[in-house]
Amino acid sequence: MDKKVTIVGAGFVGATAAQRMAEKELADVVLVDIVEGVPQGKALDLTQAAAVEKHDSKILGTNAYEASANSDIVIITAGIPRKPGMSRDDLLSTNAGIMKNVTQQIAKYSPNAILIIVSNPLDAMCHVAHQVSGFPKNRVIGMAGVLDSARFRAFIAMELNVSIESTHAFVLGGHGDTMVPLPRYSTVGGIPITELMSKDRIDALVKRTANGGAEIVSLLKTGSAFYAPASSAVEMAKAILLDKKTVLPCAAYLEGEYGINGLFIGVPVKLGKAGVEQVIEIKLTDDEKAALHKSAAAVQELKSALAKLSK
Ligand code: NAI
Ligand code: 2OP
Repeated sequence: MDKKVTIVGAGFVGATAAQRMAEKELADVVLVDIVEGVPQGKALDLTQAAAVEKHDSKILGTNAYEASANSDIVIITAGIPRKPGMSRDDLLSTNAGIMKNVTQQIAKYSPNAILIIVSNPLDAMCHVAHQVSGFPKNRVIGMAGVLDSARFRAFIAMELNVSIESTHAFVLGGHGDTMVPLPRYSTVGGIPITELMSKDRIDALVKRTANGGAEIVSLLKTGSAFYAPASSAVEMAKAILLDKKTVLPCAAYLEGEYGINGLFIGVPVKLGKAGVEQVIEIKLTDDEKAALHKSAAAVQELKSALAKLSK
């Protein structure tokens, strides 16, 4: 392949993302993890699966960053996941330290890469990666909105018994309990769901979406969701690698858009070869605006907590 994607963290999300990336033949993949043997073993297993899956992406596992040099994209999933009873925010201090170390290595070996951040708490980890890498804002992007929208779409399709392919959904805001699913912009075959469902049912699906990560944590008990998160990160990478100009909800650094300044938060963006090529500002009602600003305040709190940690 002529493109190279490094995935840091060879755990559930990272290894699944490596599998999807390779099977779609989007790029060669370098899988990096701190635990000796794990990235090497998973990469070898995936390489052997390629014979049956019939793809020619190369997958290399390593504990060192040299092999990741000059990656086009780096997806960072390193960190600890949530356990039952933990919020994403409980991961702040441990994952901030991990994100700092990882980003330093990545910036050293792949100074031109585009970073897709996955580790939680997502919006705060984007701040760490942005600050430590010194990369411009278009090259640091957080994965959350694609996942949260996919969850909303799944619940809409289940509710109305329609093909999930006919659904479209937008979820904005931070990747936390304050996320903002937007029913007015969520459609089935182009028809807003507000025309197809009662307000009560929409409210129930919105609540289930906001609680989507915790619902899976409570079922799995020892970790968090990984299939849909991996698919979501790979969808973002695909838009960038193929310069597709896909409009997706992603955590992007805002400087005044939506009246928000100096924060990473989920908004619709156009993804292409430069990373975030445009932040798309859609009209929001007063209630939607208030919900987005409440979510921004929650992200700001985490950003302030990060600043205290580094003192
Ligand atoms: P996991 O525990 O299966 O994998 C994490 C991997 O990171 C482990 O293999 C661990 O050895 C590795 N790691 C830890 N410190 C490292 C370091 N310094 N350098 C390199 N690798 C290191 O966890 P999972 O399920 O893959 O989740 C990963 C992260 O992604 C978690 O923080 C989780 O909360 C987050 N997540 C975020 C989502 C989102 O929507 N943004 C969705 C799902 C997960
Ligand atoms: C999720 O939403 C835990 O952030 C992760 O599944």
